[in-house]
Amino acid sequence: MSNQAWQNVEQEYNRMKPSHMRDLFAADQNRAATFTTKACGFTLDYSKNRIDQQSLNALLSLARDSGVESKRDAMFAGEVINLSEQRAVLHTALRRAKGDSVLVDGENVVDEVHATLAKIKQFVAEVHNGTRQGYTGKTFTDVVAIGIGGSFLGPKIVTEALKPYQQKAIKVHFVANVDGHHITDVLAKLNAETTLIVMSSKSFTTQETLQNTLTTREWFLASGAKFTDIAKHFMCVSSNIAKATEFGIAEENIFPMWDWVGGRYSLWSAIGLPIALAVGYDNFSAVLDGARDMDDHFQNTPLAENLPVILGVLGVWYSNFFGCQSHVLLPYSHYLRGFPAYVQQLDMESNGKRTSHEDEEIEYSTGPIIWGGEGTNGQHAFHQLMHQGNTVVPADFILPVKPAHDEIEHHQMLASNCFAQTQALMQGETREEIKAALLAKGVDADEAEKLAKHKFMPGNRPSNTLLMDELSPKQLGSLIALYEHKVFVQGVIWNINSFDQWGVELGKVLGNRVLDALQDKAQPELDSSTQQLVDMFRAVIK
Ligand code: F6P
Repeated sequence: MSNQAWQNVEQEYNRMKPSHMRDLFAADQNRAATFTTKACGFTLDYSKNRIDQQSLNALLSLARDSGVESKRDAMFAGEVINLSEQRAVLHTALRRAKGDSVLVDGENVVDEVHATLAKIKQFVAEVHNGTRQGYTGKTFTDVVAIGIGGSFLGPKIVTEALKPYQQKAIKVHFVANVDGHHITDVLAKLNAETTLIVMSSKSFTTQETLQNTLTTREWFLASGAKFTDIAKHFMCVSSNIAKATEFGIAEENIFPMWDWVGGRYSLWSAIGLPIALAVGYDNFSAVLDGARDMDDHFQNTPLAENLPVILGVLGVWYSNFFGCQSHVLLPYSHYLRGFPAYVQQLDMESNGKRTSHEDEEIEYSTGPIIWGGEGTNGQHAFHQLMHQGNTVVPADFILPVKPAHDEIEHHQMLASNCFAQTQALMQGETREEIKAALLAKGVDADEAEKLAKHKFMPGNRPSNTLLMDELSPKQLGSLIALYEHKVFVQGVIWNINSFDQWGVELGKVLGNRVLDALQDKAQPELDSSTQQLVDMFRAVIK
């Protein structure tokens, strides 16, 4: 980029590049306190980053000059900021308080949002108190939630994260993949009479979701149910009411959502219905409250103390200046084990783009590869590369401080590992330190010299540590909204549209053509490799 703010950051990068975080910590006793910010029950310690105040200021100026504040306000106000699809971007309206107002085409969408929430509340209460029953008069014990991408990941990871809040009487099973093993495994253990199906698809055109729903409908009818019983068991969440009714879903069983909610930002809408079924409406509502807290923080806090802004600019610092290609999320929480996969869609589908708002091809890298997994498991697997590999991977360590169990020793071990990893990544271990330790153990000098080369840990590897007071429904909502807004901040700095996803379309079109070939419905022209794969498959499966 050629703008002045970007060039200032480039200059800061050249100044900071030679410095080691060990020295930065040694030179400033207050470093941890200086680079720590608290909000919404979080403590973000970002002192283990390759920054000082001057470089951070340059990054914050870049955010300001890129228009983060005005674009943020435009998003919250419902302006059309998704230009390639000519849509407002209003997932934040889904968590507005009753009585608030956000206008889209002259309509206050907050009223529609709360009407739908009321419908969810009523429905969930009826399922939980047993007044809503299956076709043989039995109460529901299981829910099969069918959806993929944003119509799956959010509900799945929130339900998983809120395990301590789960209702005993109802079990929610998520099915996303069109791989028939999944749906058949899930259905095999269920009784159709006591199973509710929630099919979630914003577009109502997603192949995987439609196929899994059709298979489930066949299974349901094979149980002895009549066609008219479908209305008692099949619910749907979609913005495409016409297609849903055409498919056979009764109109009163359709929970609406709207064009101005992106799939990967939709768990706050009726797409969250399986969450409410799993943990109760009040806990779902608390998730929304937590997101609203983060919205308020993002909107009203100066950039220098603004959590999404800090995380966002640090990500830009590493992606565009240090050349880091990936970013790892390390929740030290079994219940947050799905969070990296959730952020993977949120971040990579939003910011994996190559065209600017001015319709020009951009040459700088955007959205990093997001990956990760729960700690401490990763320490016994991929952390090796993070410590010693030649690839620098900036990391977010996430730890809920209060556990939902009483095994305090476990929790102390979990936390000690989390903190120690950030320390090891930051300080590393010099060859001299390693050699001295080996010599002290009686290893001979030549051997110590040699071994020190293998044991050397460069350190200077950046990480953020995000402490959560606890993994409550409310704070989980804040956590997810924090990452949504981080992605937004980065999209603004990169001058891209974070809210379309054209890159997934070609695969869908070609997938349908290949399916025609596999089912012998057509002979599309295919390259020789794809044709060979089709022929090999058809030799076994016809
Ligand atoms: O193919 C990508 C995608 O459109 C995602 O953006 C979306 O979350 C997912 O598929 C599911 O879409 P739908 O809710 O319309 O079925």
